[in-house]
Amino acid sequence: MAAVRMSSVRSAVMLAAVLLGVFAAGQCTEQVPLLMWTSSGFSSAPWSDPAAGHTVSLSELQSYLNTAFRSAPHNVLLFFQDKLSVDDFTKYAGVFGNKQGSAFPNLEMNLQSSSSLFLPSVSSSASASLPTLLQDELNTAPLYMDPDTLAQLRLNASLPALLIFNLPYSSSGADMMSVKEVLSGNDEVIGQVLRIMGNQPVPYTAIYTALRPSRVIEEVFPEVRSVGARSLLQYRREGSPAPYAPVEFKERGSTCILLWAKNLTVSEYRSGKWERHNLGPKTFGEGVSPKLEGSFCNATHSRLVLNYENVLSYRSFKLIFVMSQRHYKVSARRWFTMDRVQLEYDGKTASFNGSRNIYAPAEYSYRCHSVTSFRYPQLTPRSAKDGANDWRVAFDDFQIQGFNVTGTEFSYASDCAGFFTPGIWMGLLTSALMVLLLTYGLHMIMQLHTMDRFDDPKGPAISVPQTE
Ligand SMILES: *[C@@H]1O[C@H](CO)[C@@H](O)[C@H](O)[C@H]1NC(C)=O
Ligand SMILES: *[C@@H]1O[C@H](CO)[C@@H](O)[C@H](O)[C@H]1NC(C)=O
Ligand SMILES: *[C@@H]1O[C@H](CO)[C@@H](O)[C@H](O)[C@H]1NC(C)=O
Ligand SMILES: *[C@@H]1O[C@H](CO)[C@@H](O)[C@H](O)[C@H]1NC(C)=O
Ligand SMILES: *[C@@H]1O[C@H](CO)[C@@H](O)[C@H](O)[C@H]1NC(C)=O
Repeated sequence: MAAVRMSSVRSAVMLAAVLLGVFAAGQCTEQVPLLMWTSSGFSSAPWSDPAAGHTVSLSELQSYLNTAFRSAPHNVLLFFQDKLSVDDFTKYAGVFGNKQGSAFPNLEMNLQSSSSLFLPSVSSSASASLPTLLQDELNTAPLYMDPDTLAQLRLNASLPALLIFNLPYSSSGADMMSVKEVLSGNDEVIGQVLRIMGNQPVPYTAIYTALRPSRVIEEVFPEVRSVGARSLLQYRREGSPAPYAPVEFKERGSTCILLWAKNLTVSEYRSGKWERHNLGPKTFGEGVSPKLEGSFCNATHSRLVLNYENVLSYRSFKLIFVMSQRHYKVSARRWFTMDRVQLEYDGKTASFNGSRNIYAPAEYSYRCHSVTSFRYPQLTPRSAKDGANDWRVAFDDFQIQGFNVTGTEFSYASDCAGFFTPGIWMGLLTSALMVLLLTYGLHMIMQLHTMDRFDDPKGPAISVPQTE
């Protein structure tokens, strides 16, 4: 009996440890962005940007603050949002020359007129400790504020102050505000606070960051997004029988666009059913070189045109990828987007928009397990009347790079989350849990013993020795 109990305790402890491990591993690798800037006219000590892809830890964040507050003003405004990810900036911030659409007009205006630091990836445990770190750094207690109470507060430039503004990320239930509306609401609060500060002759340092990332899947398992996905791809290329080279477009002697895919399938809806055609065999492989007339690239725009003949009974057929790259002010780096995928068949066109879904840092390549216009579409017909409504495209194991290509190899791949969607992760975790519980149950059943003595109502009561 004791043995059974011991092993059940051990299994339970193991189960708990595994579960804890799963959650702990998740927690310490979550990342949030951090923005820090000073009021105009003040500069902080020069800061060195972290290497791309590096996650700033608690101690590194502390040393950043140490350096900064040697010269930065000690009146600190901390805008602390529930959740935030770099993706929020790339999705909702304006880009140069296109300010209307931005959710962060106040933030962008203030960043322009001051010296700022952008850390794209700070571990969320470090950002969560920020109030404590700042409290130690400034030697003052934090005040939790909103803009109305701020207007009544008199700050003194020679006395440090730590003012914390909590900002929401998700809307509260009833009103179905979109993320963008919530973010612009928060930006408005930031703008209001900075205008109040502007009316006082007190210089300040402002910080905008979050407690947790808003897009957890990618951040919880960053190795899947970066290293994992890339090594998956390389593994497949090196190990299995599909090692063909990407399509390469050269401009003035140097490669400027690379494209690789397992399948490039186009389908047209004809008399009640989808007729499919896989362009893969005409595009990739030994001795196949598709014509690329019409392709071009310059520093900001690139366009890859694949020319085919006799596809789905069209004499000429073109598959066109249109990409551009821009500098995004808030994330302080260049990103490229695949703006459009276009089909041209015997003079007619079908256009799919892809702009805000398919993007990567400009010097990286973009890869995705599946890019389609129908299931979980990243590509949508340009308009309701566009010819694209009669077409479907599906690209499997797709990888593309249209900028900063060096040599004939893809750069580091930025993976879309599509391969490991939240659904898939939940499925994986749930199955793991079920398997664990099942194993635990089986283990318990195998530990059961048949009793070796049975009670005889007529005989003397049996006694079980305690020392067994
Ligand atoms: C700011 O604080 C210093 C030191 O406590 C004090 O001497 C000074 O008068 C204060 N200035 C204002 C404008 O209140
Ligand atoms: C690619 O296309 C071929 C032929 O059209 C098909 O048999 C295969 O299943 C496709 N592969 C994937 C991953 O969809
Ligand atoms: C690149 O090409 C695009 C589209 O043709 C054009 O609008 C843009 O001015 C070009 N940029 C440069 C730097 O040549
Ligand atoms: C697709 O992009 C074009 C040009 O950028 C734009 O005018 C159009 O509204 C977009 N369509 C959709 C459905 O987003
Ligand atoms: C990427 O290309 C642009 C324009 O060709 C260039 O200005 C930039 O320095 C390049 N970036 C890297 C990291 O190579």
